[in-house]
Amino acid sequence: MATVKLQRVAKRWGSVVGLEDLSLDIADQEFLVLLGPSGCGKTTTMRIIAGLEDPTAGDIFIDDERVNDKPARDRDLAMVFQNYGLYPHMTVADNIGYPLKVRHVPRPDREARVLEAARRVELADLLRRRPAELSGGQRQRVALARVIVRKPRLFLMDEPLSNLDAKLRTTMRAQLKHLQRELAITTIYVTHDQIEAMTLADRIVILSKGRIQQQGSPEDIYAKPINTFVAGFIGSPPMNLIPGEIADGAFRHSAGRIAGPFATSGAVLLGQRPEHVALVAPADGHLNGTVFSSELLGDTRLVTVEAGSDLIGVKTDPRETHAMGRQVGVRFDAEHLHLFDARTGVRIT
Ligand SMILES: Nc1ncnc2c1ncn2[C@@H]1O[C@H](COP(=O)(O)OP(=O)(O)OP(=O)(O)O)[C@@H](O)[C@H]1O
Ligand SMILES: [Mg+2]
Repeated sequence: MATVKLQRVAKRWGSVVGLEDLSLDIADQEFLVLLGPSGCGKTTTMRIIAGLEDPTAGDIFIDDERVNDKPARDRDLAMVFQNYGLYPHMTVADNIGYPLKVRHVPRPDREARVLEAARRVELADLLRRRPAELSGGQRQRVALARVIVRKPRLFLMDEPLSNLDAKLRTTMRAQLKHLQRELAITTIYVTHDQIEAMTLADRIVILSKGRIQQQGSPEDIYAKPINTFVAGFIGSPPMNLIPGEIADGAFRHSAGRIAGPFATSGAVLLGQRPEHVALVAPADGHLNGTVFSSELLGDTRLVTVEAGSDLIGVKTDPRETHAMGRQVGVRFDAEHLHLFDARTGVRIT
């Protein structure tokens, strides 16, 4: 059992700001994902929780105990590092079993648990190798196995799947989610991959430049992004954000209009996900344009329409083909429209 609380945590190195006033509550057994682009402060947050980095300001609590002054080794958590952190002179088996060895787990028990952890990450055949004899993806899985071999009160995982190929990544993702539920261990997981965040998380926290942009369930964040940063970061392909103006209740754009009625006025970004936009005959469209490109994604087709100077993504039936340059109409679904302030990027409710 473990809860984690960060209270107004900040981290600076001279004039470099890593984190700014971060407060966060993580529930027992929760799978929390920190999501954000490179340099937004994900690893810094993890290192502060782990005790590898001192915050410049703020407090860290694990199970309601303030741990600011508690050394990393006494915090009873296991961390997968972004750069693996394996012992080069040890075999895969010894690397995985190391946390058990330092805790004096008897050899037979240790060997059984190492084998079980290695099987979970598909490494059972490589136990005698050393890290230098492994690929990047294999090293990453050793690091993962070393964490799951023991049962700490908290898992911290920093991009643990980033070096795996697409197929293995999908399998490992499912394995991890299953394992986290099975072991019921509170997990904080870092990624810059929004699909990974959506699939794994009970709750996602989106960071940008050391600040929390939004937190919530994957469903909530997907359905109601709080600003254009989040709107553009979650979803693949991302939400369409079309600049225009609201006047007399209608959305106006050089390629057409949406009657609305919209309650606001002024410059906005109109947001709609590609799955909610429809391709229609030119006469039936809110906006008119031409087919810019048509890409088969497998179960859907992504058609990009050039309307005025904007490109609009539309998910369509994969069996429909669309010749480039053809005149089309684009129709928005009023139920799933988002409006953002053009200047601040903030959602208009
Ligand atoms: N020891 C340090 N000294 C100075 N600046 C640092 C130090 N460590 C991190 N930073 C800076 O703090 C910011 C946050 O870094 P952090 O490693 O937390 O990013 P991240 O979100 O993990 O990014 P990535 O996805 O690239 O791993 C970055 O701007 C980084 O350059
Ligand atoms: Mg990082």
